[in-house]
Amino acid sequence: MRRDATPRRYLMCPPEHFKVTYSINPWMDPAKPVDLPLALAQWEDLRDRYRSLGHTVETLDPRPGLPDMVYAANGATVIDGRVLGARFAYPERAAEAEAHLEWFRANGFTDVHEPSHINEGEGDFAVTADWILAGRGFRSSPLSHDEAQEFFGRPVIGLDLVDPRYYHLDTALCVLDAHEVMYYPEAFSPGSRAVLRRLFPDALIATAQDASVLGMNAVSDGRHVVLPQGATGLFGPLRERGFEPIGMDLGELLKGGGSVKCCTLELRA
Ligand code: ARG
Repeated sequence: MRRDATPRRYLMCPPEHFKVTYSINPWMDPAKPVDLPLALAQWEDLRDRYRSLGHTVETLDPRPGLPDMVYAANGATVIDGRVLGARFAYPERAAEAEAHLEWFRANGFTDVHEPSHINEGEGDFAVTADWILAGRGFRSSPLSHDEAQEFFGRPVIGLDLVDPRYYHLDTALCVLDAHEVMYYPEAFSPGSRAVLRRLFPDALIATAQDASVLGMNAVSDGRHVVLPQGATGLFGPLRERGFEPIGMDLGELLKGGGSVKCCTLELRA
């Protein structure tokens, strides 16, 4: 099958102040040292890779005291140029929401909604051609699903996450193309697994091994799938489907519980 990439616009935030000083997910161990220059180099590789694929990357200025700001995907959800802001579950990250809102207002986005309910942006909202898939259970409130549906006017499908290692939807599922996804079933409740089977009977199903290196935390442009390099089991199945997998080393950022997708907020026009 022939796959066509479409040029995307992404917002990323350099990990200048990245560190692991608190633990709000099972990946984060404040006792484990982080190599900051390496984290920066890995992040720059990712940014440069997007640019070499023809995508536009905007940058958000990092702020001291917000070590998780590098995970820009959590700061908002943007569809049709309309921005649903984030509201974080943990106080450690709360101030990131305002930093994102300021960026959007300063960069020509006029339709910006400040949310009433907790949602961690694209961490828990994934966009297909027909739906918004929405995670809940660890971070985003189920009430944020209705809020997103009302704001965007798109049907929201709620999915229950049950494994604390896969606390955001984007650690367990990735949208590959308009109507195609890959996901790790064990991260979801039995009912949500049945929903996913019904909506995506031909989905690429990930193994525990691929999920455990955050292989689901990937970004697709419809042809190239940029993903953590350790998710070796996904390369063959992606190629069989006509995609071009591109492995990246984001080992330092994995220590905060995030990888490729977490660092990438898509600005959908
Ligand atoms: N340390 C961050 C947190 O726990 C990691 C966020 C990862 N982002 C993502 N989109 N899954 O909130």
